[in-house]
Amino acid sequence: MSFQLSEVTLESEFDAIWPIHFKAFQDPYNTFSKFFNPIHTSLDEAVTSSKERHVRMWKANPACHWTKVVETKSENVVGATCWMLNVGAHAPNPNGTKKPFVADWHIEGSDERLFAEKLIGGLLGFVAERVARPHVVLSQMMVHPDYRRQGVGTMLIQWGIRKADELGVETVVEAVPYAAPVYEKTGFGRVEQIDIDFTIDNPSDTWKKYQSKTCPAHMSYLHYFNPLQLSTLKACAMVDPTAEAGSNRSGYILHSNDEITRLTLQHQIVKDALNNRLVLASINFSSGPRTILNSCTADGVWLRDLQASIGPQHTFIGTDVEASYFPTNPPSNTSYHAQDATKPWPKDWSGKFDLVHQRFAIAVEGSESDTRLLVQRLIDMVKPGGWIQLVDLQEWISDTDGPAWQDYCICLRDMINAKGWFEELGLVDVHEEIIEVNFGTRDDKNLEAIGKRSALLTKRQVLAAVKTLPPENITVPKERVSTLMEAIEEEFSKDPVNAHTHYKVVWARKPE
Ligand SMILES: C[S@@+](CC[C@H](N)C(=O)[O-])C[C@H]1O[C@@H](n2cnc3c(N)ncnc32)[C@H](O)[C@@H]1O
Repeated sequence: MSFQLSEVTLESEFDAIWPIHFKAFQDPYNTFSKFFNPIHTSLDEAVTSSKERHVRMWKANPACHWTKVVETKSENVVGATCWMLNVGAHAPNPNGTKKPFVADWHIEGSDERLFAEKLIGGLLGFVAERVARPHVVLSQMMVHPDYRRQGVGTMLIQWGIRKADELGVETVVEAVPYAAPVYEKTGFGRVEQIDIDFTIDNPSDTWKKYQSKTCPAHMSYLHYFNPLQLSTLKACAMVDPTAEAGSNRSGYILHSNDEITRLTLQHQIVKDALNNRLVLASINFSSGPRTILNSCTADGVWLRDLQASIGPQHTFIGTDVEASYFPTNPPSNTSYHAQDATKPWPKDWSGKFDLVHQRFAIAVEGSESDTRLLVQRLIDMVKPGGWIQLVDLQEWISDTDGPAWQDYCICLRDMINAKGWFEELGLVDVHEEIIEVNFGTRDDKNLEAIGKRSALLTKRQVLAAVKTLPPENITVPKERVSTLMEAIEEEFSKDPVNAHTHYKVVWARKPE
């Protein structure tokens, strides 16, 4: 069978597209499609009214582009997508007023309407919070069940990727987990799981049914970025889009517009290397509510992930010197505070926390004696019997890695010289685990793309920072440092890519 893709230009073309929408979402049954569409007494009525609503939106919004795929022999429409080209006048405006999402196709005051508003508003809000730059986003995709696994989905997705490449912007997709393989096949990398909070006061039985039947099965979306583009490392970030890359408002040496993207990707890779363990300290989170502090939290990527895995009954506090990274609407059990980790902490936080965690920030102080004071202050905030866990770089260079990557690791070693202070500072049950993190070629192509991209973003920022170090602190000749950026990109453009880093997780308990 052969297929042909074209962009939709006529209103009449939607007549053949819309019945597919309903067929596609019935097989497999998508339990929340009912929230995206009005409820009708007959299928014909539902198809017509949904089609008319989407045609109206398509006509009203020049950023909205539909494409369709036709099977050439029968001329049947077999799939379609709706892409939003959010560029130029349609680019996100992070400073604009945020209107609440209204699902006006459901009856006012009904559970369906409120649930749809929480669901769709939650998804849109999640993306809006992270995607502050011009981008191309997949709004809808449908492939007729009889024409699946024949490349139709790939054709439809590639149209959006090509458009994004032409425009020089990111492509963003949210997908239900069972649709993930289609996107991963076209090179998208999974970034984050979207968990929507459906808690309301006094939920009705219908609401509880929606929540219990719908949520566990499907109600998680995955947030995707487009395939690794070695040449254009543009990325979406939730930081101030007007700030210049490399600008250093808070004094944080790696601050840039890409920092949150870099940290999000790095989190996936490090978590994988730790076999999905976020806490190695032996804390029993199910025996009672715990209070957790994450120092130098950035946008709370570790904290949010921990919260998703241990449940909402605990209290989560994230601190960072760069408050612009913080999520705007954290759940009620989570708060973010601007705090310089090199300065004294609030007095009433002394002995408050069951777990104090800090990752990739031991170097914020710079000198060894001050780092010891920083760690001492973190320990002061641990409850007697509570735990502290630090994750940072371990000095390590592999002979089998590429020569440019090896020199880069020497730069990292010079910049970050982490030390375990815990025994000296009176802690007990001191543990250390060294993990090897692979930023290069591996069997899991999704993780490979995330790892490579994370490494390329990191090296750009680290090398810019290393250039600012005093010459006596730099082992690799300065001329080599200035060519490493291109040399690593070259190394990463040929398979196999050998690039590893070792991290160290150190955790210990404060005596009772
Ligand atoms: C390498 S990032 C790590 C972020 C996060 N812990 C993670 O693992 O993804 C370092 C973080 O430390 C923050 N930071 C830098 N200097 C700091 C300081 N003096 N006090 C508090 N936070 C600082 C930065 O803003 C950044 O968010």
